[in-house]
Amino acid sequence: MININDLSYVYEDGRMAIEHIKLHFSCGEKVALVGPNGAGKTTLLLHLNGILCGQGSVRVGEEELDDRRVKLIRARVGLVFQSPDDQLFSATVFDDVAYGLIYQGVDKETIHERVARALEAVGMPGSQNRSPYRLSLGEKKRVALATVLCMQPEVLALDEPTAGLDPRGRRGIINLLAGLDQTLLIATHDLEMVREIFPRVVIMDAGRVVYDGPTSTALADTELLRAHGLLG
Ligand SMILES: Nc1ncnc2c1ncn2[C@@H]1O[C@H](COP(=O)(O)OP(=O)(O)OP(=O)(O)O)[C@@H](O)[C@H]1O
Ligand SMILES: [Mg+2]
Repeated sequence: MININDLSYVYEDGRMAIEHIKLHFSCGEKVALVGPNGAGKTTLLLHLNGILCGQGSVRVGEEELDDRRVKLIRARVGLVFQSPDDQLFSATVFDDVAYGLIYQGVDKETIHERVARALEAVGMPGSQNRSPYRLSLGEKKRVALATVLCMQPEVLALDEPTAGLDPRGRRGIINLLAGLDQTLLIATHDLEMVREIFPRVVIMDAGRVVYDGPTSTALADTELLRAHGLLG
């Protein structure tokens, strides 16, 4: 489904954020990206739908991600940013969640249905008329997830979906993610969630992949975890 080949990215200030990343994700796979702050997880996710474009290649299905195909690929890969303020910009929750559907020309009735369903799925039913700016951080994160869920993309890339959520909200999101059929890639520090629903984990450190394999093996290896800042 996704092929990343020899991908490197240097920010404008010269910082090398990811280096020679090579990863393959199959259709329907659920993979967690973990690693210390600054490891490059967010930078990598931002490449999956063309927000950043580094050296090397990213392929989604048969399509190479380049300038011409960005629009097409954004319909296939839904990305939820680490900070919901980067995702929400409309006057109402409805407008934010409906935005992509309106852009796609989906009919009104279907839009209302899909927005309502997505908000319900993230535990924010009936919040259509609220202002995104006036939501709490956890509420904003849920609405940000709804904006992408309602597009029904083949791949969901989520940056720290459970960070800042209360225990019940976190549980709701974990159950929701566990039930999704889509290919799911998430960046997270929530190792308990990783243990529970992600059979494969990729550990990144200093811009490189240092482990890619079964979650059970990684989480049993305290030396590995300690070496990469995953144990307190
Ligand atoms: N806009 C930017 N300009 C310059 N450097 C950046 C920028 N964004 C990120 N970086 C740097 O790139 C590296 C990777 O950052 P990134 O945000 O991808 O890490 P991360 O693994 O997502 O960390 P976290 O767990 O804190 O979210 C870090 O060293 C960071 O300081
Ligand atoms: Mg990050």
